[in-house]
Amino acid sequence: MTSTTSVESGADVSSEASAPAVPLAARTRGLRKVYGSTVAVDHVDLDIPQGAVVGMLGPNGSGKTTTIRMLLGLVRPTEGEVELLGRPSSSTAAAHALPDVGALVEGPGFHPFLSGRDNLLRFAAAEPRLASAGIPSAVDTALERVGLTGAARRRYKGYSLGMKQRLGLASALLVPRKMVVLDEPTNGLDPAGTREIRRIVAELHAEGVTVLVSSHLLAEVEATCTHVAVLQAGNVVAQGELAELLESGNAALLVRTPDADQAVEVLRENRIGARLTPDGVRADLTAAEAPRVLQVLVGAGVAVHEATRARTGLEDLFARLTESTVEGSG
Ligand SMILES: Nc1ncnc2c1ncn2[C@@H]1O[C@H](COP(=O)(O)OP(=O)(O)OP(=O)(O)O)[C@@H](O)[C@H]1O
Ligand SMILES: [Mg+2]
Repeated sequence: MTSTTSVESGADVSSEASAPAVPLAARTRGLRKVYGSTVAVDHVDLDIPQGAVVGMLGPNGSGKTTTIRMLLGLVRPTEGEVELLGRPSSSTAAAHALPDVGALVEGPGFHPFLSGRDNLLRFAAAEPRLASAGIPSAVDTALERVGLTGAARRRYKGYSLGMKQRLGLASALLVPRKMVVLDEPTNGLDPAGTREIRRIVAELHAEGVTVLVSSHLLAEVEATCTHVAVLQAGNVVAQGELAELLESGNAALLVRTPDADQAVEVLRENRIGARLTPDGVRADLTAAEAPRVLQVLVGAGVAVHEATRARTGLEDLFARLTESTVEGSG
């Protein structure tokens, strides 16, 4: 089975031999950015498969924005390479790729005294793929798409954080893109706004657009992304298909029983990993299948009230990756 998933803990480090099967919309190799004594991004090898929705996850200061800025050519890497839509973004060739990439990054440079609509008209004028005659309708469509039509003629200065985010998103969507990069798009949005971002990301995905979206909201990434890259202190600690990464987390069976202590003991006697959790007895399914676990329990007279497959959430995975990184570095 071909897999682009790599969880870089212990010996399992992806090698160059495992070339990804899907074409890549963007990739970085050995990407590094140092600010004074701060290593913001450290040897990041990122693969963004074409047509994927890649969630870039990581705590504050883990290097998400810096990576995105380097990807877009807004910041020069200290070391390493970036390829965007098949072109190295450090060179002038990037100019050919960039019009196909819509981006929402911190501080998009809107004019405070112009209205949201006038700001977008200025951005639209700088779009090489947009003929002048098409500008007003492209602007109004983008405003509509992000739900900003009602506030379009108000000054940017008076916009709420959420409205500013929406305007930034509108500027990213002014023309059809091959790739859209969104740095924390739900920042400052209310739940309805967050749902709209989800809808827009899903629409882009359905259109075949590659999306890179950073977030520290695990549930958000889990709900919208096909792939995930986890950053920790400037390093990519895991990346790949979301479903595969979740599966690579230990599969387990959650057993509800009044005889919990006995259940753990019996399972361990049968070489099945087990531990007590607040939700019940968690039996490890890496060495045994679920029917075998139940057979062992029932055979030993343990009253099994309920058994469910415990789904590894992204939160578990994230916590586990973070823990193993801490162990690995210390
Ligand atoms: N222009 C800069 N000058 C100095 N240090 C910087 C600069 N930009 C980023 N850093 C540092 O680099 C590290 C990574 O920052 P970055 O903004 O990329 O993280 P992030 O993952 O986007 O965080 P957040 O979730 O808070 O947005 C941090 O330690 C930050 O302080
Ligand atoms: Mg950031």
